[in-house]
Amino acid sequence: MKGGSEKGYIVGLDIGTTKVCTVVAERTDSGLSIVGMGLAPSQGMKKGMVYDIERLSQTIEKSISEAEQMIDTKLEDVIIGIAGEHISGFSSEGIVTTPTGVITERDVKRVIDSAKINNISPDKQIIHIIPQEFVVDDQRHILKPVGMYGRRLKANIYIITGNLHAIKNLIRACERVGLNVRNIVLQSIASAEAVLYPEEMEIGTVLIDIGGGTTDVAVFYNNSLVHTVEVDLGGNHITSDIALRFGISRATAEDVKKKYGVANANRVTEREIIQGIKRAGPSQLVDISRKELAEVIQLRLEEIFDRVKVGLDSSPFPKFIRNAVLTGGTSSLPFIEDIAEKILGIPVRIGYPHDISGMTEVENPIFSTAVGLVIYANKNAPVYESTPYSSGKGFFSRFREKVKQWFAFLFS
Ligand SMILES: Nc1ncnc2c1ncn2[C@@H]1O[C@H](COP(=O)(O)OP(=O)(O)OP(=O)(O)O)[C@@H](O)[C@H]1O
Ligand SMILES: [Mg+2]
Repeated sequence: MKGGSEKGYIVGLDIGTTKVCTVVAERTDSGLSIVGMGLAPSQGMKKGMVYDIERLSQTIEKSISEAEQMIDTKLEDVIIGIAGEHISGFSSEGIVTTPTGVITERDVKRVIDSAKINNISPDKQIIHIIPQEFVVDDQRHILKPVGMYGRRLKANIYIITGNLHAIKNLIRACERVGLNVRNIVLQSIASAEAVLYPEEMEIGTVLIDIGGGTTDVAVFYNNSLVHTVEVDLGGNHITSDIALRFGISRATAEDVKKKYGVANANRVTEREIIQGIKRAGPSQLVDISRKELAEVIQLRLEEIFDRVKVGLDSSPFPKFIRNAVLTGGTSSLPFIEDIAEKILGIPVRIGYPHDISGMTEVENPIFSTAVGLVIYANKNAPVYESTPYSSGKGFFSRFREKVKQWFAFLFS
């Protein structure tokens, strides 16, 4: 039923490698209030790609129905996050001269048309067109150029695309359980809404979301997303390393990591021993040195941050990245800031969803994306009310819709 949005509910669905998380927010006079949530262990999803649509649908249904029970309402319209190696971002530039010397809406449309999106292959779909700046004659950093005097108008835009089939499969997984996908948002853009402060987005900040299967990196500068990096490593690799190193099952390793794990081996002493951990196989127990455990964790984290650093160095704005914010489940590892700071060479903080009213349980880095999705949807209300995505929709109609959204932003 359409009741979900009519009642003022906004539903964010974060389909991750380890969990499918639903967050329901209600629009109130004083802003958004979180009124419902659902959480189910993820199945059928790996590194942002669907590999078992039936199992994924079941997980989505479970997560959604938990939230439905909380608010006693059937939910139908959702906004979903997307991430993974199939996502890519690139800059594009358009340039036109203005016939009258004053910039009109038509000139802005022309400059976007001229920023030809030639290089997108048919197996890709546009997810975001992000205005970074307009340049009027030689004046830079202009966001709304209409009405300004100028002979030459240049547009710098950042385009995010994803694999068409990966996107369709995600939508299909939702549709199979009766959900309409209202919008698709890059997970990093959503997480940034929930955890970054406006001034951080302005001065230059990198948001690093270390999840289970992937680490999604997004650089914000001058209030805009300017660069993205995907690293195909996350907390699950740490769990596997621990299981392998100490000969314990993955489930036990996951428990040990969460209970005793720290990111910096210098922060624990040799004397700390975790006793009686169950080994894989028939009832054998093993004692684990907490320092050795930390060494395993630290080694993998160093690899992750090294890869992040390489990705950041290839950014067009490496010098403008003033600080880093870590989020996602793996950022809960104590002293992870030490390792990030050492490798990235900038101040690091942990980002939680903040300024949330209603259910404060969501103030945990594993909920950053889901909370961010509802904040994003609330800010982009007209977009949210637009025609739902459908798994059958073609690339060009989607592109036109995105351009329409951009115009809505520019001329608002
Ligand atoms: N308290 C904790 N200490 C250490 N690690 C944790 C903790 N809580 C969660 N994790 C780890 O965080 C990871 C899951 O994070 P998150 O929920 O952000 O991932 P996801 O969104 O499902 O995955 P992805 O974004 O990669 O698709 C798992 O590897 C889990 O072990
Ligand atoms: Mg995630």
